[in-house]
Amino acid sequence: MTAVPASRLGLDIVPVAGYIGAEITGVDLREDLDDATVAEIRRALHEYKVVFFREQRIGHAEQVAFARRFGKVTPAHPHEENPPEGFPEILPIDSRRYEKNLGRPRTSYDHSWHTDVTALVNPPAASILRADILPPYGGDTAWTNLVAAYENLPKELRDFADTLDIKHQFQTRATTGSQRARKVEEANLVAYHPAVRVHPVTGERALFVSPGFTRGAREIRGFSPDQSERLLQLLWSEATRTEYTVRFRWAPGSIAFWDNRATAHLAIADAGHLGHDRVLYRVTLEGDVPRGVDGRESERVSGQPFLGA
Ligand code: SIN
Repeated sequence: MTAVPASRLGLDIVPVAGYIGAEITGVDLREDLDDATVAEIRRALHEYKVVFFREQRIGHAEQVAFARRFGKVTPAHPHEENPPEGFPEILPIDSRRYEKNLGRPRTSYDHSWHTDVTALVNPPAASILRADILPPYGGDTAWTNLVAAYENLPKELRDFADTLDIKHQFQTRATTGSQRARKVEEANLVAYHPAVRVHPVTGERALFVSPGFTRGAREIRGFSPDQSERLLQLLWSEATRTEYTVRFRWAPGSIAFWDNRATAHLAIADAGHLGHDRVLYRVTLEGDVPRGVDGRESERVSGQPFLGA
């Protein structure tokens, strides 16, 4: 399909940081989007890695319908047991649940840099997060551009990283010995991914290190735990350098749509102690099995591929 310029579609796409992020206005996500608008949003997603929409008055059904325009929508999460009734695709990120289940206040399920569910052999291709209830201040989210992180490495380090495979594993935050912790352990998700993955659409190379899922295993194939730890520290810090990031201030009706193959993100842990609720809803799109620069595929150790419909 020939690309229609954003301006002709009534869309305004404005970059918001030097390496990552753009805000899209001129679209109402309650409406059925035409193919040209979907193509333009997809193009912006691939260029800017995360795109933001504001003041979108949509609910679960419209969020899922919007997601379906971009790919197959997965169930909420491989280990999610309580999606909202009638919406098995929706993952609630709800501070009230975390406080109840974990016994301490927190505003998101993970306050470390991560790419969504990289313990799967086919991590989601993209995630769409919609804000509903927000603290009056705090609780922002940041994203980092993993393509910029890779491209700005010295060539020798890029060449070295191209050869590495890193172990990713799911770690539950549920109380040790609890029924949930046992269930997650029984169906544990573990995979090895190339440290550098080639994006199947753009062909760009991304530094695919997901601290939240690689910190537990601390294993780069062929290296000792100590060597792996030191190398991972280097790759994590390169992937999350401040200059590659954008920080988003949520309001009810804000939406962030990110390319999970080219970004990692961080729920900033500055609001749990304030005692305000924070509720967002996420859907994810089915992802492919990553490939390294030489075409090698990620390897599944345990857990099934995560498929959408
Ligand atoms: C997520 O990691 O998908 C949620 C991020 C957030 O809570 O800000």
